[in-house]
Amino acid sequence: MSNDPLVVFTPSGKRGHFAKGTPVLTAARHLDVDLDSVCGGRGICSKCQITPSYGEFSKFGVSVSKDALSEWNSVEQRYDDKRGLKSGRRLGCQAQINSDIVIDVPAESQVHKQVIRKAASDRVIQMNSGTKLYFVQVEEPNMHEPSGDLERLSKALKEQWDIRRVTCDLYNLIQLQTTLRKGNWHITVALYKDHLSNVSKIVNVWSGLHEAGIYGIAIDLGSTTIAAHLIDLKSGLVLANSGIMNPQIRFGEDLMSRVSYSMMNSGGAKEMTKSVREAINVLIDDVAKEANISNNLILEAVIVCNPVMHHLLLGIDPVELGQAPFALATSDALSLGSEEIDLNAMNLSGQCYILPCIAGHVGADAAAVALSEEPGKSDDLILIVDVGTNAELLLGNKSRVLACSSPTGPAFEGAQISSGQRAAPGAIERVEIDPVTKNPRFRVIGSDLWSDEDGFKEATSEIGVSGICGSGIIEAVAELRLAGLMDESGLLGSAEATGTSRMIPYGRTFSYVIHDTSSLDGPVITVTQGDIRAIQLAKSALYAGARLLMDEMGVDFVDRVVLAGAFGAHISSKHAMVLGMIPDVALDKVISAGNAAGTGARIALCNVDSRAEIERTVRQITKVETAIEPKFQEYFVAANAIPHKTDTYPKLKKIVTLPDVSFNTKSQDDGTARRRRRR
Ligand code: FES
Repeated sequence: MSNDPLVVFTPSGKRGHFAKGTPVLTAARHLDVDLDSVCGGRGICSKCQITPSYGEFSKFGVSVSKDALSEWNSVEQRYDDKRGLKSGRRLGCQAQINSDIVIDVPAESQVHKQVIRKAASDRVIQMNSGTKLYFVQVEEPNMHEPSGDLERLSKALKEQWDIRRVTCDLYNLIQLQTTLRKGNWHITVALYKDHLSNVSKIVNVWSGLHEAGIYGIAIDLGSTTIAAHLIDLKSGLVLANSGIMNPQIRFGEDLMSRVSYSMMNSGGAKEMTKSVREAINVLIDDVAKEANISNNLILEAVIVCNPVMHHLLLGIDPVELGQAPFALATSDALSLGSEEIDLNAMNLSGQCYILPCIAGHVGADAAAVALSEEPGKSDDLILIVDVGTNAELLLGNKSRVLACSSPTGPAFEGAQISSGQRAAPGAIERVEIDPVTKNPRFRVIGSDLWSDEDGFKEATSEIGVSGICGSGIIEAVAELRLAGLMDESGLLGSAEATGTSRMIPYGRTFSYVIHDTSSLDGPVITVTQGDIRAIQLAKSALYAGARLLMDEMGVDFVDRVVLAGAFGAHISSKHAMVLGMIPDVALDKVISAGNAAGTGARIALCNVDSRAEIERTVRQITKVETAIEPKFQEYFVAANAIPHKTDTYPKLKKIVTLPDVSFNTKSQDDGTARRRRRR
């Protein structure tokens, strides 16, 4: 047994014997303990802070005396005077081991600290960013051993940090000359390590020790909106968020209309590429301003998007994605220089990582959802539905993961709906219909009050009640079914048949009035028969996609449904089930994952190892192409009924009663809602 002092690190529990006089940082490195250091033990970065513990530790079989570490030294005193060290803290590179000791590494001193994601699943992200800072002392040039600045910097990185293959672009090479001399041959280098090639690229250099942070940006590039999250690459904390409408909307609301725009207009794809790159630059400016940091310190970006947006961002014509066999220019992940895609609002030597696409219709955004929700690690069979203009679905468990996309169209986003609008203040987002009086109550975005509550008028006087958004139309249609105003086939009844004057004629069909301000020259917000048809088409496509995946998996049930996407976060699971958007499961098994694609982008930004993981996962995902599956049409037609023609939804029927009404032509003529025998 060694006579050298025993060192025990917590929370890792790693332990080992080290000679007296060994710095704590050196011991930590030998034991592979997660203790940070940017300056390489020179006593200037303060990243290596530790907390020694004294006394009896029977758990570790150690008794720690007060002098187990060397005395507080002048370097620590200098740092404490300048910046202040928390009480009980020491610098790991300065404190030396005298005798047995227990040392705690606080979370902020861990390189791979964990960041808890604030979401239903409380997913933990382990920090290990692709871009890191290294402080080095570089040899001065020497007449006798002539070598360049870059070569001597590479040598220093190898000797001091064991970093081998280093590259440098021209911009940083130009900076290097003055930076080295200004810092008296001390320099901080930001290195981006490519996880595939293991080559480290110099992305920024600073004279001396760079103490400000470095940042990355996670971008969820959707066809309707673009969202960006600015992240501290050291702590993983989100410092600012911003969103913007995708300016490509002016070229076409949905993806296929943008593909058509590109087909029909020479230079159309280039125009769309330019507009989306400009929008991302605006977003980068916004988040940098909000967090009050220099744009130049944003060194990395991770981007997730659907295949059409992927091609348009990269400047690739998306025309091939508009026709079978939907061939992508590449489905692999991409690591690009930020200047290659004109992201000049971030550091121009910075790097952009774009997640791999799963297939021609299932993009990097679905890969990001897979990274965030990890269906391939689940014991339960999970169906993940990312609802947007095009729904992307993943079905899987530990045995297998399948993916497809389904052409739902934009109805779930409030488009193609007579009173539809985007989710914005004034849009109706929640609806309830009293089954007895048949009267509605609703809530709008921007107010917490229901429309029948005191103060609603005043609370909404500024924003008004302007239309109905995606979650609102889903609730409205489901509530019409629950209140007996619409039958299983989706037909609305007349005022006579339903007993409410809110049902008004609309051509040869009927509409249900939710809110009428025509007497004040305001809008009349209704749900028309056409709206219901649009929702039926969208939900049938979604359900048929899920059904095809279940067939491929050989199952006729799923254990859990995860609703992803910003919109998924607002869908009421009960109403989605009443509509038959998703297969029948217990309501507590339907959860919202919020913006899972955005979370996946954040994970890929914070943890470089996750990139290799998702690239591997995507290669293993089985793709199901709904467009060529002969059964799609059959499933689509059966799913037109609300909730479904043949699937009986037993779990749903335990919690709601679906009125057995029919408003077919004959019953409309009779003027009564005819009771039908339940099948
Ligand atoms: Fe930098 Fe200790 S390693 S101060």
